[in-house]
Amino acid sequence: MGWNSWNHFGCNINETVFQTTGNQLIQTGLSKLGYIYVNIDDCWSLKSRDAEGQIVPDPIKFPNGITGLASYLHNLGLKLGIYSDAGTETCQGYPGSLGHEVTDANSFASWNVDYLKYDNCFNQNLPALQRYPPMRDALNATKREIFYSICNWGQENPWIWGNNTGNSWRTTPDISDHWSSMMLNFYMNSRHGKYAGPGGWNDPDMLEVGNGGMTFNEYVTHFSLWAMVKAPLIIGCDMGSISQSTLSILSNADIIAINQDPLGTQAECINGCEYINYISGVQANVFVVPLDGGDKAVSVTNWGTYNMTYTLDLIKIGISGQATIKDLWTKEVQTANVIHITGLQKHSVKVYRITPISIDE
Ligand code: GLA
Repeated sequence: MGWNSWNHFGCNINETVFQTTGNQLIQTGLSKLGYIYVNIDDCWSLKSRDAEGQIVPDPIKFPNGITGLASYLHNLGLKLGIYSDAGTETCQGYPGSLGHEVTDANSFASWNVDYLKYDNCFNQNLPALQRYPPMRDALNATKREIFYSICNWGQENPWIWGNNTGNSWRTTPDISDHWSSMMLNFYMNSRHGKYAGPGGWNDPDMLEVGNGGMTFNEYVTHFSLWAMVKAPLIIGCDMGSISQSTLSILSNADIIAINQDPLGTQAECINGCEYINYISGVQANVFVVPLDGGDKAVSVTNWGTYNMTYTLDLIKIGISGQATIKDLWTKEVQTANVIHITGLQKHSVKVYRITPISIDE
């Protein structure tokens, strides 16, 4: 969990953006909820390496270097992420790390970086398996603990080899701040649940919550579903001007608890699972996930444009008898063996945590 500059700032970044973000993560209480990585995306370096072949942080954007920013964030109890590319250049034309893995991993470690997002532009048509493992090995050789985020856009089935290579792998093209993009990325990611678990996660791309392109209910849906499928929760809005309503979404501790549950199981679809149903929105789209200790979480999504009604008999998700059912957005609690949802609004979601009631003999 953390924050990344790309979705809101693009290349328009400097040290102040990351310092402000760090301070805001503390002041809003988000860091206490688990958002601790502050991640630099593309455009942080000079366009050329130095005479020794090292990448040079842009001294105008980062007057205290990456090391200075790292110590600023570490003093706040946060972590720092950086970005490079498994090709000759990054997507925005800055130096890539292909062929420079050891040099660059050593730079990142010497700057006290805690996370690397490793992109896929200008990859010279070399297979991913020739490009991503060398950076893994170079990072490991530094002995510094660095989260390795593979960003190759779901190409070459990264769910198959991702777990041996990194800590997360993108399963999709880039997200954009629109309902249809969020929906497509969620759907694509949902088909690879069995490959995800503690230490290696499917990544349907970073959050757009708070960037303005979706309604409140749509952002609640986006955030809830990312939590259900154990996606990295990387905030992508401007923390300097974050609104109360955005904060209310990102700081829902019950939803975060689903995402951070120790079992680390990705939710699976049990109803309305075909992509045609996402487009038409005729059926409720239902995901279920087991949680540590025997609870289950259920999401019911209405991708469509008409209100809908849906009933879920708990026996269908393996719970017989009564259960305590908590609505994780309204916080209402009921005891029942069935969930009746009437008037589930268009483009919205319901998320429940279900605790079976054991019958004492
Ligand atoms: C690619 C990645 C994005 C972002 C941009 C930066 O498109 O998938 O997440 O890092 O590059 O240029």
